[in-house]
Amino acid sequence: MMMRRSVTRHANTMLVTVGTRFFSGTAATKARAVAKEVVLGAPVKGAGHHIGTSMKYWIRSPAIHGKVRNLSYASLEKEQANRMNSASVTDSAGENKNEKEIVSYWGVPPSKITKEDGTEWNWNCFRPWEAYKADLSIDLKKHHVPVTFMDKLAYWIVKALRLPTDIFFQRRYGCRAMMLETVAAVPGMVGGMLLHCKSLRRFEHSGGWIKALLEEAENERMHLMTFMEVAKPRWYERALVFTVQGVFFNAYFLGYLMSPKFAHRMVGYLEEEAIHSYTEFLKELDKGNIENVPAPAIAIDYWQLPPDSTLRDVVMVVRADEAHHRDVNHFASDIHYQGRELRESPAPVGYH
Ligand SMILES: [Fe+2]
Ligand SMILES: [Fe+2]
Repeated sequence: MMMRRSVTRHANTMLVTVGTRFFSGTAATKARAVAKEVVLGAPVKGAGHHIGTSMKYWIRSPAIHGKVRNLSYASLEKEQANRMNSASVTDSAGENKNEKEIVSYWGVPPSKITKEDGTEWNWNCFRPWEAYKADLSIDLKKHHVPVTFMDKLAYWIVKALRLPTDIFFQRRYGCRAMMLETVAAVPGMVGGMLLHCKSLRRFEHSGGWIKALLEEAENERMHLMTFMEVAKPRWYERALVFTVQGVFFNAYFLGYLMSPKFAHRMVGYLEEEAIHSYTEFLKELDKGNIENVPAPAIAIDYWQLPPDSTLRDVVMVVRADEAHHRDVNHFASDIHYQGRELRESPAPVGYH
């Protein structure tokens, strides 16, 4: 009881100090009324770049009952000992249910997000305001014709990389997609990191390009999280990812340092290949060679798809994302080709 009062007092203090600054008073009052332990109540309208109509309001609350308690240091070890035997169960989506409580005395309230209808938001790996509706109207056939030596080099490197991929995966498109996403998520992170360091070194703004490239990396990683649900990697495929990542990360890092225009051009061509691969994937689905299973729950929430969506719908939205990445990277390369720097052109943040 003492603990409960202490937590409630702490929660109310947080609400007053933090809630009034970051969240509307109405939401805060509502949150306070919902439960004594609830700390932060907030509509997040406008908090991200895409918010669906059905996802306008959210209540964030710390998982005091469930996952985390704020404790004094003295009671921390005791609490940990008490919970040593708690079972840990992982569901198919990779989210832990009934797992051991994480105890902390740091006062950091991890939020538990509830949808407006009262149901729990299932994903810790992304939040409702990061979900969006894919732009399926994007032109999938656009292609940058390689003219300069560097363009041709980038183009033929990508074409050459496709050959071993075709031989290794053949028509196993689900697995192929999953494996390729482990590579596709690297360039955005490397480019974003290098631009970040450059911004620090030169005491200058990035024009938003750090964020845009990191968003691309995150979007690609969400593709991977989605395809993981429909294709489970075998041990030798996991080993291949280790090897390829070790080589590709370092190669791309050096390539970006030496020539960002080459690096972005190459990613542009990689994305063109990704569009081709997903088009082939769709053909196999349409022919019935790959079962059109229901869309994974994570995909339905991430792309705000209808509940009865299928794998085909997921491949469609992923392919649209790849087309956006293609445009962003060819555009970035074009900026460099014109002798300009990325920061001179506002970055396409939220463009996917
Ligand atoms: Fe992707
Ligand atoms: Fe991509």
